[in-house]
Amino acid sequence: MKNGKYLIGFIGFGGIARGPHYSGWKKLPDVEVFGISDPSEAVRKFAKDELGIKYVFENYEDLLKIEEIDIIDICAPNAIHFPATIASLKAGKHVLCEKPLAISKKEVEGMIKEAKKAKKKLMAAQHMRFMKESVALKRLIDNGELGEIYFAVAYALRRRHLPTSPTFIDKSLSGGGPMFDIGVHILDLTYWFMGCPKVHSVKGITFTKLAKRKDIKGLWGEWDREKYNVEDFASGFVRFYDDKALNLTCSFLANMEKIDDFSTTLFGTEGGIKWPNGKLAKEKNGILQDIELKLDVLPNVAPHHEEIRVFLECVKEDKEVPVKPEESLEVIKILEAIYISSETGKEVIF
Ligand SMILES: NC(=O)c1ccc[n+]([C@@H]2O[C@H](COP(=O)([O-])OP(=O)(O)OC[C@H]3O[C@@H](n4cnc5c(N)ncnc54)[C@H](O)[C@@H]3O)[C@@H](O)[C@H]2O)c1
Repeated sequence: MKNGKYLIGFIGFGGIARGPHYSGWKKLPDVEVFGISDPSEAVRKFAKDELGIKYVFENYEDLLKIEEIDIIDICAPNAIHFPATIASLKAGKHVLCEKPLAISKKEVEGMIKEAKKAKKKLMAAQHMRFMKESVALKRLIDNGELGEIYFAVAYALRRRHLPTSPTFIDKSLSGGGPMFDIGVHILDLTYWFMGCPKVHSVKGITFTKLAKRKDIKGLWGEWDREKYNVEDFASGFVRFYDDKALNLTCSFLANMEKIDDFSTTLFGTEGGIKWPNGKLAKEKNGILQDIELKLDVLPNVAPHHEEIRVFLECVKEDKEVPVKPEESLEVIKILEAIYISSETGKEVIF
């Protein structure tokens, strides 16, 4: 802290950092973005010259030497999340880390252990939990409107939106393809709606059928077909210990009717609904009804900003973070197991 302000340091200052994360921190009155680390010289120059950020470093080890920094916001590629989080916690910082929290079960377990040892906050930046549609639906669920949610079908499907940067399509940086990039969002949300049950087993399959083809064009421009080494389509079937299950299907490139389908359909004993804006199907007075939810009357929130505001509140008041790392562990277990199952052809049982 300095002059009564919480000091923030970024590890990785690319698209998501310079966008909603930077503006999210800037909105808070008792916060200062104090330093960044990024291997890109152009990014460092932008941070210093355009944004006036005081400390810019090539390596995060140097950033972490600044004692007054309280919170590290990790926005580097997925494969950096684990080493950067461990180093930040060891340096005595709280960590807000972009999704996916890490790229393997073992890494997340290590991060949880280190956070406990350091007595610091650790949270995955699952901003979709902070969308008004998510908050409203979770309220209905917690009040029992859906009864027991026993099954869900979660989609993170895009027709022709393949991110072209190596951050997302080079496995050494991303750890995986659409499952780690967009599947993690819809899985985390679905898992949270379902009450965060313990994973029993996972069966999955991944494909790379379209992304290597030169005749397939994406709406976000060209990508390096030679270097593309992650899946472009994946699906998994997950069973939980308490008699619940879900299906997760994700893609960057899918031959399908809609431009994208980012949704989850929840099947409960007392009602069913499709997030983000479906009608609540419910038996009432012996009649099955569709109940329209008027979510447009709820106040608009910028979900990334809300996630940052809430994380700071947890740091200040020493409260438990809303996206618990133990929940992220189950999410990452599922994603990793889909890859393992696809390779081995077997179900992964926990
Ligand atoms: N929640 C969301 O809506 C959302 C959206 C996009 C990306 N993300 C996540 O944010 C992270 C970054 O994605 P992005 O879109 O900003 O990617 P990006 O490629 O625009 O930026 C990544 C930045 O990290 C830097 N970097 C690489 N190695 C580094 C290291 N060792 N130390 C510090 N910086 C390093 C790169 O130079 C680059 O500037 C990823 O984990 C991604 O999954 C989240």
